[in-house]
Amino acid sequence: MKVINKINDIRKYVDSLRKRGKTIGLVPTLGALHEGHLSLVRRAREDNDAVVVSIFVNPIQFGPAEDLKKYPRPFRQDRKLCEKEGVDIIFHPSVSRMYPGKDSTGVNVEGLTDKLCGRSRPGHFRGVCTVVSKLFNIVKPHAAYFGQKDYQQFLVIRKMTDDLNFHVKLRLCPIVREKDGLALSSRNKRLSIKERQEALCLNRALKEARRLIKVGKVSGAGLIISRMKRMINSQPGARIDYINICNPETLEDVKIIKGKALAALAVFIGKTRLIDNDVIS
Ligand code: PAF
Repeated sequence: MKVINKINDIRKYVDSLRKRGKTIGLVPTLGALHEGHLSLVRRAREDNDAVVVSIFVNPIQFGPAEDLKKYPRPFRQDRKLCEKEGVDIIFHPSVSRMYPGKDSTGVNVEGLTDKLCGRSRPGHFRGVCTVVSKLFNIVKPHAAYFGQKDYQQFLVIRKMTDDLNFHVKLRLCPIVREKDGLALSSRNKRLSIKERQEALCLNRALKEARRLIKVGKVSGAGLIISRMKRMINSQPGARIDYINICNPETLEDVKIIKGKALAALAVFIGKTRLIDNDVIS
């Protein structure tokens, strides 16, 4: 496995792979890898001749109140995990290599980014789209892999990919959960033992939404959302950022559930903001 820091070096490497007719799978990450990321790496490994994992804590997707400095950067551990999964290249650029000087060009997807997480994290998706488009241009992957936990991120990147004609297949991979249902996230490490227990309310509320929709008795989204709110609010350390039931393609809220619906929520557990979702048909 190679670790490459320089943009020109990775360009040379991927160009030679492409010349030899090899397919490249890209798994973009912020590092602090867990089983969720590794499931993306395994899928990329299955589908492609070469797997590139990018590890880059992208400063421009963090808001001023979000803790960029404290974001974990356990590079040695990440490197070991990648090695074990048969990754070919870790692309690990510095901030100054990715953003030399003041950044002045950004990629903005409109519409989809006004909703859900976009409301409480202004500028976040612009930061994500900017770095992902740079990674697509640098690594030129045939396919790129994203986790369903960041469902809105996937839709936004898909829109950007279509609109800007990036020649890359996007793959959405299922959420990986702990045995007790908590969706894996590098933020889970920030939870105290008590908060870790309280955090289970996110998945519990989603399960309740799924149950209500599946039994077919409740089709009004408002009623389901109030049930979910009650479950979350019963945890003293929990504060709801949003709970929405919406169209899984447009993210527009739905009133009456017909066909597929996305139940999505963001909840602060103490100071840690967690997200989770489920696509229910
Ligand atoms: O989902 C993430 O980890 C990040 O938003 C991504 C896609 C790597 C862009 O920095």
